[in-house]
Amino acid sequence: KKPVIAIDGYSSTGKSSISKVIAEKLDLIHLDTGALYRGVTWFALQNCTDGTDTINLQELFSSLDQIELEFRNHDGELILYLNHIDISKQIRTPEVSDNVSLVAKQKEVRDFLLHSQRSLAEKGGIIMDGRDIGTVVLPNADYKFFLTASIDERTNRRYFELAGLGIQTDREQVKQNLIDRDKIDSEREIAPLKQAEDAIVIDNTELTKEETIDLILSHINK
Ligand code: C5P
Repeated sequence: KKPVIAIDGYSSTGKSSISKVIAEKLDLIHLDTGALYRGVTWFALQNCTDGTDTINLQELFSSLDQIELEFRNHDGELILYLNHIDISKQIRTPEVSDNVSLVAKQKEVRDFLLHSQRSLAEKGGIIMDGRDIGTVVLPNADYKFFLTASIDERTNRRYFELAGLGIQTDREQVKQNLIDRDKIDSEREIAPLKQAEDAIVIDNTELTKEETIDLILSHINK
């Protein structure tokens, strides 16, 4: 039977891009759960504000049943659709990054997204990355990894990732967003960002993406 793998960790430690490569190598499905929280946040910014960038949470909670999230396979890459619109690029904007942790700490939102994450893993053969996969979503995963790296290295990675998407930002703003999100994600009451007791911790500050992938694969192939 193909494995179920949980990858958690701090923002911009490479969780998603690393998980994507491992999924290709081991022929697994890859689910980037952060994209789901970003999708709900994008929806809220479109539909649940009074024209400012302040989300009305009560309005969001009562609108959750209007959200249909779906990943479609485009040549092996899963693209996120919200109510049949491709939002894979919109969810990376700084506006979404600045609001996502507030949205993600709400019980209503986490409950809304939990079921679909779990049901995707029922058949095995999946690698899921996020903040609470090894602790809450898939506590019985076959393998659990927890990624961490220094804040400056993570800032660099996110900065270049955004530049690659054509999104111009400044480095200090990127850094502050990572610090703020990690703080809210770690301190929230429900499903906080923390390593599962049985997770293998990898600090990849000094590792390339390929070295991190090889290290993870060496644990799986043991
Ligand atoms: O992984 P990414 O950085 O795109 O995640 C965006 C945000 O979504 C995180 O900062 C966190 O607030 C939230 N998230 C979460 N639980 C997950 C994945 C992401 O709360 N499993």
